[in-house]
Amino acid sequence: MKKKLPIGILVSGSGSNLQSIIDHIESGRLDAVIKVVISNSPEAYALERCRRHDIPFVVINHIDHPLRDAFDQQMIEVLHSRGVELVVMAGFMRILTSRFLSSFPMRIMNIHPSLLPAFPGLHVQRKAVEYGVRFSGCTVHFADDGVDTGPIIVQSVVPVYDDDDEVSLAQRILKEEHKIFPHALQWYAEGRLEVKGRKVYLKEESSYGAKQAEF
Ligand code: GRF
Repeated sequence: MKKKLPIGILVSGSGSNLQSIIDHIESGRLDAVIKVVISNSPEAYALERCRRHDIPFVVINHIDHPLRDAFDQQMIEVLHSRGVELVVMAGFMRILTSRFLSSFPMRIMNIHPSLLPAFPGLHVQRKAVEYGVRFSGCTVHFADDGVDTGPIIVQSVVPVYDDDDEVSLAQRILKEEHKIFPHALQWYAEGRLEVKGRKVYLKEESSYGAKQAEF
């Protein structure tokens, strides 16, 4: 039996990326097991998704932990106690402390709804529409100590149309997020990602040969 990558997923909101990861695992396209989902909000709809799929979750409400270090320490303890190897930020809206980052070096993946390095930070779909870019998209990257600056694993591009607004563009981008995030996780599970400085290389695996990635 194939080893399954033990992952911990951090969420804050709707959890559509969490759902896509769950669906990929359940259909056998992602060799991972979700050891725990951590939400910083008790209201997150992502928790409902956990209940429906019998996935263990923990709420660590950031309001109860005004000091970021204490909040992150709580998360570290939960993730370590569940044997998590890779931390997955799926719509997690908190900035991680250096303590957290050093607990999981190059073992934290984030998804961001823009073509980094363009538009890091918040409200990026609105910023892309307002700026007038013709293309936007999403980026999966390893987290480092900057905001959305870590080594890029994979990106997907979408067009931006004249009549787009923040919502329509966000929906188009989300569809791509749901494809590339599980794919990047599967590459990690297969041990195929190699980080050298800023660059992430996708190593070939014998069973994959020279086959191109198909989303
Ligand atoms: C996604 O666009 C993600 O990239 C961003 O926040 C949104 C969250 O979506 N960080 P969801 O919670 O996975 O539905």
